[in-house]
Amino acid sequence: MRVTIFGATGLLGKALLRQWSGDDLTALGSAQADIRNSEPVENVVANAKPEWIVLAAAYTDVDGCEINPNLALSVNTYGAVNVAKAAVRARSKLLFISTDYVFDGKKNSPYETDESRNPINAYGKSKAEAEGKLCEIHPQVCIVRTSWLFGPGGKCFPDTILKIASSRKQIEVVNDQRGCPTYTVDLASAIIRLCRSGAEGIVHCTNAGDCTWYEFAQEIVRQSGLPTTVRPTTSDKYVRPAERPSYSVLSPLSLSAYGVKMRPWQETLGQYFALRMSSHDELASPSTTVGDEKAQKR
Ligand SMILES: NC(=O)c1ccc[n+]([C@@H]2O[C@H](COP(=O)([O-])OP(=O)(O)OC[C@H]3O[C@@H](n4cnc5c(N)ncnc54)[C@H](OP(=O)(O)O)[C@@H]3O)[C@@H](O)[C@H]2O)c1
Repeated sequence: MRVTIFGATGLLGKALLRQWSGDDLTALGSAQADIRNSEPVENVVANAKPEWIVLAAAYTDVDGCEINPNLALSVNTYGAVNVAKAAVRARSKLLFISTDYVFDGKKNSPYETDESRNPINAYGKSKAEAEGKLCEIHPQVCIVRTSWLFGPGGKCFPDTILKIASSRKQIEVVNDQRGCPTYTVDLASAIIRLCRSGAEGIVHCTNAGDCTWYEFAQEIVRQSGLPTTVRPTTSDKYVRPAERPSYSVLSPLSLSAYGVKMRPWQETLGQYFALRMSSHDELASPSTTVGDEKAQKR
């Protein structure tokens, strides 16, 4: 199977490249094809003629999107539209990565795939708009909504907590937003299975279990063995440009329909710690550059 991945240089993209074997991959970052421009997107898709396109490229800085909503729309909505149009022309199937932030967070039970989108920040709006437009352009599109990504090879919440906790006796973390942490390695495996199953429609895909950011930080510190104390606080003490939904837990029912079961997020942290250390070692090695590392993974 020929597969083209947009966003291959990102946190999830790197995990997809590491996990995906046995198929013919074309891996693209923004330097190879800026999805805001239709021409390079058309060209790379027409040349690769993929059976599947995985669209993991996005402007993911939630506060940055709030400050610059036009950039959010141009990448996350109209960039996705460019990829969907190219997919239709090349008769490729399309898997689009979306987010729990398409919901407003006013519920207190897990969101199912058929519940109304009602985003409360610019990032969520740009992804919700994309979802709607992609369904019109490419009716067989598979939309995979995920949340709270973490994994080796980039900045993410556990990485930040480990760095801060290693130099402080006490840290404060917000305890009024609840969601599902998702390990990129597990998400990548699920995406590969969904493509191989010919998935269509909306699928919610996260690790099992939910927590607040405070509970997530507590577990990271506990499993790492650091002596730091984690204390709960509230979002109003850390005002940021973008509002976050207070509850964005995604139901696993749509994923189990494809026979995919994700392990509890707590069980992924040990592997994450080990891979995080080995990717630090790779970067510290004088004979390995970041470019070399990416080339080897491709
Ligand atoms: N991170 C989360 O917590 C989270 C939660 C829910 C959903 N998601 C979704 O999951 C997907 C993957 O997220 P991630 O955390 O892996 O993202 P990431 O690490 O921020 O990486 C973003 C990727 O998008 C590419 N990109 C950005 N602007 C682009 C443009 N104009 N043209 C082409 N490529 C562009 C980047 O390419 P370069 O690096 O080459 O510029 C990079 O490969 C995204 O769709 C995101 O919305 C993420």
